[in-house]
Amino acid sequence: MEQNIEVGVVGAGTMGQGIAQIAATAGHSVVLVDRDESALKRAMANLDRIFKRLVEKGRLDAGEPGRILGRIRTATNVTACTQSGLVIEAVVEDEAVKQGLFAALESVVSSDAILASNTSSLSITRLAAGLHSPHRLIGLHFFNPAPLLPLVEVVPALQTKDGLVEEMATLMRDWGKQPAVAKDTPGFIVNRVARPFYGEAIRLYEEGVADIATIDWAMTELGGFRMGPFDLMDLIGNDINYAVTESVWKAFHHDPRYTPSFSQKRNVDAGWLGRKSGRGWHIHGDGAKRAEPRRDKDLGQDILWRILVMLINEAADAVFWGVASPEDVDRAMQGGVNYPKGLLKWAEEVGIDRCVETLDGLRARYGEERYRCSPLLRQCAQEQRGFFR
Ligand code: NAI
Repeated sequence: MEQNIEVGVVGAGTMGQGIAQIAATAGHSVVLVDRDESALKRAMANLDRIFKRLVEKGRLDAGEPGRILGRIRTATNVTACTQSGLVIEAVVEDEAVKQGLFAALESVVSSDAILASNTSSLSITRLAAGLHSPHRLIGLHFFNPAPLLPLVEVVPALQTKDGLVEEMATLMRDWGKQPAVAKDTPGFIVNRVARPFYGEAIRLYEEGVADIATIDWAMTELGGFRMGPFDLMDLIGNDINYAVTESVWKAFHHDPRYTPSFSQKRNVDAGWLGRKSGRGWHIHGDGAKRAEPRRDKDLGQDILWRILVMLINEAADAVFWGVASPEDVDRAMQGGVNYPKGLLKWAEEVGIDRCVETLDGLRARYGEERYRCSPLLRQCAQEQRGFFR
């Protein structure tokens, strides 16, 4: 891909704004499109503010913001993308809307322009099927906040032309990102492998093993995760987090490993969405008091261990099913959701055989498929080998 291509970004919300910032900072001319004029104004004002702060912090020279912002023009119609060599869409997560958008884009861009989707949960293959030239579509899944988190999942559709994955991975590296190639399967890498971080934490709470504050404490203080699961669900929004879990569960034909929880659904029903509504698992806002965790290291290790083993099992299973390489799975969890270590490397450190033993124990205790051990994890334990060759 030529260095100086114009990049189109459609959708000027949270993600589109961040992607436009990244592409313009990398030196591309960018056309940022949103059908809502006020979204464009908001995005440009936000970028102006972000760049001023970067100058104040000494991360950018004083003249840079003007130059970078000067590379971004805005438009309310995709007809402005005629010159774009790559168009990345970040509009609402709705298959029909995205397909309509790609149809409109195909009628204006050149025949060799690449089209990309930032979707978190839709199938890239299904999106491609609606195009006249399906081979030109690829998933480029950035993480929020896009300018800060290094991961981009590069997801080819079945129809994607040969060489495009490597071309996009190279471009993402040029933009300072860390690409991880993922098969077009539900949740790609991160949104699949991360499910137990939330699901198993809620299970532990529902079973009465520990309260919310103690589970959050164990994962941050003992596990080194940047946020505890309940705090993170409140940040993401319980409505959004529940919807992702439900969509992954449905997409996997109701696999019990991903079963959504009743208590999170109740939070959503009550409007306890998290920080944005002032209350979720925790109470937020000025003066809100946090419950004290039980700082019991034995209990805290039990909690951390069970959630960690479930995450490791999910990571191993993603490799087993060819979703991504072990290197890309580990890179994805560190670069997309800030995990303190790659899960497969972590498994090797704590002992793969111990992980298998724990899973077998949980499965025997509960009699649930939820705790079935990944064939790859068991194989590595039997052969006394690691994941990386
Ligand atoms: P958002 O709601 O902040 O922004 C979407 C924007 O798209 C709005 O400004 C809306 O006016 C515009 N839009 C809707 N339909 C349009 C159309 N047909 N033509 C032009 N503009 C249109 O959404 P957000 O959060 O930025 O998400 C966008 C996409 O990125 C979704 O597919 C989402 O699943 C994905 N994503 C979101 C992440 C997040 O944390 N918010 C993380 C990674 C991916």
